[in-house]
Amino acid sequence: MTLAFLGTLRGLTYLGASMLFILSLRGLSTQQSARGGNYLGMLGMALAVLVTAIALVATNVGGGGGTGGAEAAGTGGRAVGLLAAALIGGGAIGALVASRVAMTSMPELVAMLHSFVGAAAVLVGIATTLQPSGEGAHGAAHLIEIFVGVFVGAVTFSGSVIAFTKLRGLVGSRPLMLPGRHALNALLVGGSIALGVMFLGEAGPNAMIYLLVMTGLALVLGVHLVMAIGGGDMPVVVSLLNSYSGWAAAAAGFMLSNDLLIVTGALVGSSGAILSTIMCRAMNRSIWNVVFGGFGAAPSGPKATAGAAPAGPVHETSIAEVAELLLAARHVIIVPGYGMAVAQAQHAVKDISSFLIEKKIKVEYAIHPVAGRLPGHMNVLLAEANVSYEIVKEMDEINPEFPQTDVVLVIGANDIVNPSALDDPSSPIYGMPVLEVWKAARVVMLKRSMSAGYAGVDNPLAYRDNTLMLFGDARQSVIGLLAALRG
Ligand code: TAP
Repeated sequence: MTLAFLGTLRGLTYLGASMLFILSLRGLSTQQSARGGNYLGMLGMALAVLVTAIALVATNVGGGGGTGGAEAAGTGGRAVGLLAAALIGGGAIGALVASRVAMTSMPELVAMLHSFVGAAAVLVGIATTLQPSGEGAHGAAHLIEIFVGVFVGAVTFSGSVIAFTKLRGLVGSRPLMLPGRHALNALLVGGSIALGVMFLGEAGPNAMIYLLVMTGLALVLGVHLVMAIGGGDMPVVVSLLNSYSGWAAAAAGFMLSNDLLIVTGALVGSSGAILSTIMCRAMNRSIWNVVFGGFGAAPSGPKATAGAAPAGPVHETSIAEVAELLLAARHVIIVPGYGMAVAQAQHAVKDISSFLIEKKIKVEYAIHPVAGRLPGHMNVLLAEANVSYEIVKEMDEINPEFPQTDVVLVIGANDIVNPSALDDPSSPIYGMPVLEVWKAARVVMLKRSMSAGYAGVDNPLAYRDNTLMLFGDARQSVIGLLAALRG
């Protein structure tokens, strides 16, 4: 009776948690509602973990398989102890790591977390296969769930570990272009399918052998797929692995007959796939290129150095001159980029925008979808500095405004304002949509030198007549600018 009640409670709580996750994703889709979306997701996860723990404890303590007495109590006690250790230990490690990680290292952390999901799916699949089949012998559908779940989990695990090592710089970021690499991938996938067919037809001990051999092939496939992708595309790979980890979790949900895991996995899988597509579009990459490990990629990879050397004289400016320009302007747009994140200049930048707004000057921020090094990087930094969401504009919204703008401050950004993306078909970033800042009356680029940005290509914006270069660390320059404005 109690267990039946707990089962109903668990089902209802899972339903509530699933709805909270969906509302959370909806909340995360706009800056204004993102904080609320995060809280909803946290609440959903807390409910899910709590009710799962209660149900597990009740099953182990109360329903000890009819053995009764001291033996059942002992088994239940051990289960509760293991569960408590996993929850407290895992929670503490997660909290510690997440609180210490730098924003710029977030993709590495995410890659590592995806590897855990992949590993979990593999272990659940192996454990499910090891279970005595008895009267509920694994049906064909269940065997397919196990096989597919372990395959996706193994690819996710090894791919995520390689993505982590590449992002950390432990492995070189150059794409590994083995001769016949697509044939190798096809062989690994074909071999796994053949083993799957044998796994389905085998009820005896060989089933585990087929599963383990396929796991080995899938691990090699994950390594090879991600090794074939250059460091430049690694954040897209991380987003794609996020999607794979979702599908692996959904497969584990099928194996464990856990509805919540299926729903959560499907949400992560589909949202990760959508994010990967958006990132690919914003970086002018083919999603299939990333999915199939560099399929169709140029042998040199995306990071080109051609044209990286400065190509002409620039107009250098001073803090005092920029302060004068800003005070004389009616409309100013600020374009933050990776350099602003490195310099941690967001608070000082916010002070400048507040000062100008007080002087009745219209100020807006222009955000490129791949500014910085991770999705939403600039949005997070600006939110941290309490910049009002109303003046933060996405690329499509702000691009038509540049021709009516007096001054654009480009703070530590480079590739996302590079005109070659639109007018130089030989440029490696040709085709990537960019912020068309050069259409404004004046552009001021704040950076330390004439070094190229992430793509390794020179930026002709720096040599334009209406562009001024303010050299120096972005934070120091912005602090100096604020002092000059106030002075
Ligand atoms: P970048 O093109 O990388 O340019 C950043 C610029 O900041 C550099 O040219 C650098 O020049 C300058 N800088 C660095 N430290 C600085 C400091 N302390 N003070 C002042 N300036 C500093 O950045 P972006 O324009 O934001 O473009 C992002 C790039 O990353 C794109 O190519 C994008 O495709 C790529 N990417 C983005 C993502 C996501 S999801 N956001 C993922 C992967 C790749 P100096 O050295 O001369 O100062």
